[in-house]
Amino acid sequence: MSVLEARQLNKHYQMGEVMVRALDNVNLVVNQGEFVAIMGPSGSGKSTLLHLLGGLDTPSDGEITLAGQPLSRLSDNEITLVRRRRVGFIFQFFNLLPTLTAEENVGLPLLIDGQDLARHREKINKLLALVGLADRKHHKPNQLSGGQQQRVAIARAFVNDPEIVLADEPTGNLDSKSGTAILELLRRTCAELRATIVMVTHDPRAASYADRVVFLKDGQIVRELQKVGDEHNVQTIIDVMAGLDL
Ligand SMILES: Nc1ncnc2c1ncn2[C@@H]1O[C@H](COP(=O)(O)OP(=O)(O)O)[C@@H](O)[C@H]1O
Ligand SMILES: [Mg+2]
Repeated sequence: MSVLEARQLNKHYQMGEVMVRALDNVNLVVNQGEFVAIMGPSGSGKSTLLHLLGGLDTPSDGEITLAGQPLSRLSDNEITLVRRRRVGFIFQFFNLLPTLTAEENVGLPLLIDGQDLARHREKINKLLALVGLADRKHHKPNQLSGGQQQRVAIARAFVNDPEIVLADEPTGNLDSKSGTAILELLRRTCAELRATIVMVTHDPRAASYADRVVFLKDGQIVRELQKVGDEHNVQTIIDVMAGLDL
């Protein structure tokens, strides 16, 4: 069953005389329970694609269907609600609120949605335990390492039981050891919560944790690798990139 479908997506930016085609006829279907990596060099359109998929920005052309809802038919308010209730986001720079504790940061999406946090205490604690931070729930972001902050962000991304989690270079700001721990956590969370994850990255090692890798070049999907982990590894991904001149 598909959770997310993108059909003939285009996004261009008019920069004075020049038109930048950030995305060029992108088609993508993501199924329930899949961990998909979108891989491409800097400037290939990864962030643009992720923003469109999560309803943070609108395409110039094409359609996105998220959890059965064609976004183009929704009002801005309805898209905000879809984003708030059905999508989880993980960013490169964690984006935690510095004045809130780990526990409060995890609960923030529920608070913004007007829900009573007291009723979700158990779920928040469960998620903090899942990411290995049960004993850090009263810490503020500046009392946590980068890797720990990203784990708080992962718990936060799952707190609204999202249909899909979108991650933009989640290990881009971490050292390699913390990065590996985050990738393992994402893969485990995907399995344990039967979650669906789309992660964009320029790092072949990060992409190798996904089930499927989609290669983006100059705004176009140019190749796809299935069964990563089982049949393909980091070296295959590096070889494909070299072959595509990425
Ligand atoms: N707001 C914007 N205005 C103009 N050009 C943009 C804007 N956002 C992205 N671009 C351009 O679109 C292309 C894709 O950018 P982006 O999606 O950020 O790539 P990536 O995340 O893969 O590095 C780049 O050429 C970038 O310069
Ligand atoms: Mg980017």
